[in-house]
Amino acid sequence: MVTHPSLATTVGSLEFKNPIIAASGTFGYGREYEPSADPRVFGGVALKGTTPKPQAGNPPPRLVETPAGLVNSIGLENPGIAVVIKEKLPQLEDLASAGTRIILNLSADDDNGFVSMAEKCNQASPLDVLELNLSCPNIKAGGMHFGTDPKVVSKITSAVKKATALPIWVKLAPLVTDITVIARSAEDAGADAISLVNTLPALVVDVERQRTVLGNTFGGLSGPAILPFALRQVYMVAQAVKIPVVGMGGISCSDDACAFLLAGASAVQVGTAIFVQPDIAERICDGLSQYLLEKGYEEITDIVGRLAQKD
Ligand code: SIN
Repeated sequence: MVTHPSLATTVGSLEFKNPIIAASGTFGYGREYEPSADPRVFGGVALKGTTPKPQAGNPPPRLVETPAGLVNSIGLENPGIAVVIKEKLPQLEDLASAGTRIILNLSADDDNGFVSMAEKCNQASPLDVLELNLSCPNIKAGGMHFGTDPKVVSKITSAVKKATALPIWVKLAPLVTDITVIARSAEDAGADAISLVNTLPALVVDVERQRTVLGNTFGGLSGPAILPFALRQVYMVAQAVKIPVVGMGGISCSDDACAFLLAGASAVQVGTAIFVQPDIAERICDGLSQYLLEKGYEEITDIVGRLAQKD
């Protein structure tokens, strides 16, 4: 009888103590939720999207709640790579000592921007993964259009791969003609994993004032509303590539996380739900352990990709 199932998983050669990762943009630089939530509970923490130079972000309003989600248009406000390496990463030593993986999400206008940041990260610590954001819907230069063109995905991925020994995860936009083509182009160019999906392009309207609501007009939809679509994209990509997949999109409980793992994700990222339940990593880990006990599995990896088609 299974008594202590293991939640440990791997993404490529990298081990994670559990498969729950805080999604970039929803957990700051790892410390902001304390003391409401202990960041060391997460298997990994993906830091806010970082750019070569500091960025002020988009004009407000930047966040709008929707019936089953959140539309954001932050515009990658961040202090820039130099500050992140010098001031933010060193604050995460205790997370690293506790076995929480540190993932730095990078955004840039072109491949040179990505490469220059990756080179700087070679001297950075603690740091386990570079996640290339080829999918931000909220900026004009770079961002989402990168992730819709397999040639651009390939060019950026292979350039960064040459510049660093760190594992590279390529974060994809959800809304493309064929997500498997984009994922394969990242795999062929040397990506160590695919993370998906980023937010869905969205528009919010104030009907009384007959105006758009967000300062940048458009935003990205996250939260439970996008889960079935994200799950479909993760399932498709997991079938199409040999490298691991990190799934995300609207996960707010252990059953949601479980669905992504069954669909083929080796780990999952939780984002919008953190705003509502800062201690969500603990709750999901408890729920996953319970699921494994009930089903008689010894390890979380036993359920990865186990999804069968309805007979
Ligand atoms: C933002 O800062 O606008 C969000 C980043 C993203 O969705 O990639």
